[in-house]
Amino acid sequence: MAGNTQPAEQLDERYRVAGATAEQQQAVDVLTRQFLLTDERLGAIIKEFRRRMEVGLAADSTMLKMVLSHVVWRPTGQETGSYFAIDLGGTNLRVLRVTLDGKGGATSVHQKFVLPEEAKKRTLFDFIAQCVETFLDDHNMRPAASEPPLSIGFTFSYPIDQKSINSGTLIHWTKGLSVPGCIGRDVVRLLEDALLRLGLRVKVAAVVSDTVSTLLAAAYSDPAAQMGVIFGTGTNAAYYEDVASIAKWKGADPASGEMVVSIEWGAFDSEEFAILPFTPHDIKLDRKSLNPRGQAYEKMISGMYLGEIARNIMLWLADQRLLLDGRSSAILNAMWSLDTSYLSSAAVDNTPDLAEIRQIIEKTLDVPGSTLVDRRIFKTIAILVGERAARLSAVGLVATLTKRPDLLSKPITVAIDGSMYEHYPGFACIMAETASHFIPEGQFKNIRFSPTKDGSGVGAAVIAMLATQQQQQ
Ligand code: GLC
Repeated sequence: MAGNTQPAEQLDERYRVAGATAEQQQAVDVLTRQFLLTDERLGAIIKEFRRRMEVGLAADSTMLKMVLSHVVWRPTGQETGSYFAIDLGGTNLRVLRVTLDGKGGATSVHQKFVLPEEAKKRTLFDFIAQCVETFLDDHNMRPAASEPPLSIGFTFSYPIDQKSINSGTLIHWTKGLSVPGCIGRDVVRLLEDALLRLGLRVKVAAVVSDTVSTLLAAAYSDPAAQMGVIFGTGTNAAYYEDVASIAKWKGADPASGEMVVSIEWGAFDSEEFAILPFTPHDIKLDRKSLNPRGQAYEKMISGMYLGEIARNIMLWLADQRLLLDGRSSAILNAMWSLDTSYLSSAAVDNTPDLAEIRQIIEKTLDVPGSTLVDRRIFKTIAILVGERAARLSAVGLVATLTKRPDLLSKPITVAIDGSMYEHYPGFACIMAETASHFIPEGQFKNIRFSPTKDGSGVGAAVIAMLATQQQQQ
């Protein structure tokens, strides 16, 4: 586990905490050295990432799963009609009816449900079925017994092994889910069975990763879309791969010659912990997580985890009496009590006395009496953790984009969604800036990073439509 080797004297002035004691500054310098990543270090990680992608395209069951989505089409944008979709993310579930207008546009009627803890731990598929029922009933869309079953696109944002467009066995849970009895089973069957238990005849036309559906949603209006990326509760990406480069693909070659591959990049460096910049704070989080040694890359980048890394850092400092005079609280002591959204607010608190941060420390975390220096240190932690996440997210992007240099010679669109990308201050800029260090300028200017908010619902409907068309041919 190599450390980052940036000498202290080169550390950025931004990480000097005004008014800090020498001991406090020393501790912040330790953090800065751990969390700042040199281009040299990032370059090495990108190289290893690329190697792992190749390994995953050659065989099953490797660290990067390179899931074959069976999506072998690109929409033309002229497709029309209404399709249903279920969009299951890490935090929310949406049920939608999407109408494609044939001009690259789509409108939808949708309902959003927050995933309750009970569903995350036990009743997931029954919960989804109930949400579908609520949606259909509320909108008067429940099909009569005489009508054909409803055809639906299912965005399922967890790793599955896909043998066809409408089946996929769960490899393992990520992002805090732990519903028993699902690993190794077809999630489409689990869903259809739960729907049948409610008397709803629904046929899943396609099951897809949120990255795949985000990509297809963008592709519906933009023929240059090549990659779909999520930086949200979890992180992952999908891209169009040349079938000739997928050694593990044993099926007939599709007419298009390409297939969307979902990298499942959150798992990069899992089990091995060989190359990512692990700090003691990451290791502590990992040990206590539901999936120790799993999703190593995701745990440094995504919204589910960054608050927890920051909380670990706070306790490390407090235990040395370098923060909050060594005080903590029942809330600060509890795992996951610091939501990542608080780091977002802290990173941009520019009030003279850091009022927002005072609120977070004293009210949310229940540790009264913070000093201005405590609050400045908190802000520095938020910046360090967030900036490392943004820099590391460029790793997967660059590795994927440079894998197909043929695509970079013309304009290409990277569709991106997720709370980190949308809300974390500076995330999008730092990510793009970092990526620009590793892609030749002439090619980099062809890349358009395109925020694709809530694309996964529309994308699932587009894919359901393309899959249904294909079956009818
Ligand atoms: C997690 C899931 C992956 C999903 C990503 C983004 O990494 O394993 O399937 O695409 O989160 O939601």
